Amino acid sequence: MNMNYKRTLVTCALPYANGPVHIGHLAGVYVPADIYVRYLRMKGEDVLFICGSDEHGVPITFTARKQGVSPQEIVDKYHCLIRDSFSRLGINFDIYSRTTSGVHHRNASEFFRKLYDEEKFITKETEQYFDPEAKVFLADRYISGTCPKCGNPGAYGDQCENCGSTLSPEELIDPKSALSGSIPRKVKTKHWYLPLDRYEPWLREWILERHKEWKVNVYGQCKSWLDGGLEPRAVSRDLDWGVPVPAEGAEGKVLYVWFDAPIGYISNTQELLPQSWKKWWMDPESRLVHFIGKDNIVFHCIVFPSMLKAYGDYILPDNVPANEFLNLEGDKISTSRNWAVWLHEYVDEFPGQEDVLRYVLCANAPETKDNDFTWKDFQQRNNSELVAIFGNFVNRAVVLTQKYFGGKVPRNLKPEAIDAETLARIPECRRNLEGYLDTFHFREALKEAMNIARIGNKYISDTEPWKVAKTDMDRCASILYTSLQICANLAIAFEPFTPFSAAKLRDILKVGVSAGFDYRAGEGAPTENFYTASEGSAIHTLASDGREEPGDIVLTWENLGERELLPAGHELGETVLLFAKIEDGVVEAQIAKLHATKAANESSDARERAYTVEPQKEMCTYDDFQKLDIRTATVLEAERVPNTDKLLKLTIDTGIDRRTIVSGIAEYYSPEQMLGKQICILANLQPRVIRGIESKGMILMAEQPDGKMRFITPQEVLADGSQIN
Ligand code: MF3
Ligand code: ZN
Repeated sequence: MNMNYKRTLVTCALPYANGPVHIGHLAGVYVPADIYVRYLRMKGEDVLFICGSDEHGVPITFTARKQGVSPQEIVDKYHCLIRDSFSRLGINFDIYSRTTSGVHHRNASEFFRKLYDEEKFITKETEQYFDPEAKVFLADRYISGTCPKCGNPGAYGDQCENCGSTLSPEELIDPKSALSGSIPRKVKTKHWYLPLDRYEPWLREWILERHKEWKVNVYGQCKSWLDGGLEPRAVSRDLDWGVPVPAEGAEGKVLYVWFDAPIGYISNTQELLPQSWKKWWMDPESRLVHFIGKDNIVFHCIVFPSMLKAYGDYILPDNVPANEFLNLEGDKISTSRNWAVWLHEYVDEFPGQEDVLRYVLCANAPETKDNDFTWKDFQQRNNSELVAIFGNFVNRAVVLTQKYFGGKVPRNLKPEAIDAETLARIPECRRNLEGYLDTFHFREALKEAMNIARIGNKYISDTEPWKVAKTDMDRCASILYTSLQICANLAIAFEPFTPFSAAKLRDILKVGVSAGFDYRAGEGAPTENFYTASEGSAIHTLASDGREEPGDIVLTWENLGERELLPAGHELGETVLLFAKIEDGVVEAQIAKLHATKAANESSDARERAYTVEPQKEMCTYDDFQKLDIRTATVLEAERVPNTDKLLKLTIDTGIDRRTIVSGIAEYYSPEQMLGKQICILANLQPRVIRGIESKGMILMAEQPDGKMRFITPQEVLADGSQIN
């Protein structure tokens, strides 16, 4: 680690503006990053917190096409949704901009152009699939065909979702364009490549020798990439959505999304600090830390650093604390299957409980291995940790102070050894806490913060001030004095983890906190249309409602562990509860919601499968069709045909007459279910005698993928005997 740093630039992976953010993203990237930034700010360090939306790439064009709108409409929608939901969870970036911004397009273009002019790229001509009808090159995702491994007819050019194999479009049997359905042709096209192989020796030295302190999962992944040998990577694509390639002969080509997106970190810093951004990116006394998920490791540890190295001038990441994945109720989180807890829904459904999610996701963060989120665990951690330990302790301390001492911190009149011993444990918690936060071990750090609450809770239970008050007010004063000092320490220690509750606690204790550093200082006068996503987030006053905090007691991280943060006579504010119990019904409703999603998915999967099952029958003429007399009819009576499992005898009103039809639907419908139902029949089918009953006509049924038959019913009640043409 860079020991001589003066400032820290923290970035979070730019989320694709292709869908909302879910708890997996939060636990892996955004919650730990926010904890880290709040911690550094509390320590008074200079820190800048950068994020934004990643708005280019093929999947976004895919979503847009499916929904029949432009890619811009898709990214506009999700950019705003994501930005707002982050800030509602207390994740306040100094800027949350976007890769469709003008600043970014110019910057990414300039970045490419410098490497291009300095001949840092190589070019290659390859053959790529081209859609002759839509007249575009096809990204792998846009080609579908039959999987060579499992025979799934709906496999994509990059992957078969049925058997999970990674594919290349060449391997597909009968490839078709997903855009037009036409058969793609191979056409030659030229692209620019960053020759990563040339950077390999340097990367080996820089990562494997000089960054042994990186997390084991990160270091290990880098090592296996490097040991596998690096190859040139294409930095351009044939696509009409992205940053146009600024080179001769590059019409119709854009920068590859993984080339432009990380440059977005730089662009967003420029947008925020047009005058002073270079200090953050080019001064060796700046430290760059990327928070990402494990699927982003190669891009942030190998590709982007090689780009920065090729450009020159830039600093390189000092650390890349990538996390593993979070599962949900034992299953992989999946955006397409809607198996997720979405941030924007959580903040709507759990107002005032933002910290519970932050707490649980940190306590459960997939730091070293994949982990599981369950709603039961969420409830359990809230009720037995936040409510029963932290909240309970603070509540007892302040309520008793109100009751016996008029809401003023009492003087420490009869201190005993236990008081001193208890307070003496907090500096040790602080040392551990810092050790863990400095090395990105957020789960352990949170445990240490919680230990302070446990110490307090045990202390107040052991000393029982409510009993002592009956006999010895002086001793009671000492106990509450000690308890309130612990509360003030909690207000510091929990600020990074549960900022809403820490702010509430500071309101209760009537103290402020300073996390002051103004990144705009280097800017001279702010420019006119100066923009920050979270106005004022760096000059923290950190009151729960964003106002300046009152009182003359201002705490900083430096105070953590001190024995007298609140002097005798200091008046407390109003008492409120920090946390509320979560009842069974609340989490059961969430679990039910997930399962409803799953059921809906299964039926839509089934629909998709059914779609591909039966090939079309051979052609018929209009005259053939005209021969069929298809009509609506209503079931008047229904009974089982004796001694069969399959047959129902139905009496129906066809509009023309009343007649009997024997139908093989008894396995799927009971007689009661059929009564009064309007159905469709083939009226002019030759009568047949079935089990001694004359059946005149046939009920139209559709077979489902599970083999079950369903009758067809009109959307609204129609006159019986209406002809279907
Ligand atoms: N959008 C990417 C993802 O969600 C992350 C991009 S990070 C950046 O996986 F560095 F490229 F910006
Ligand atoms: Zn397959």
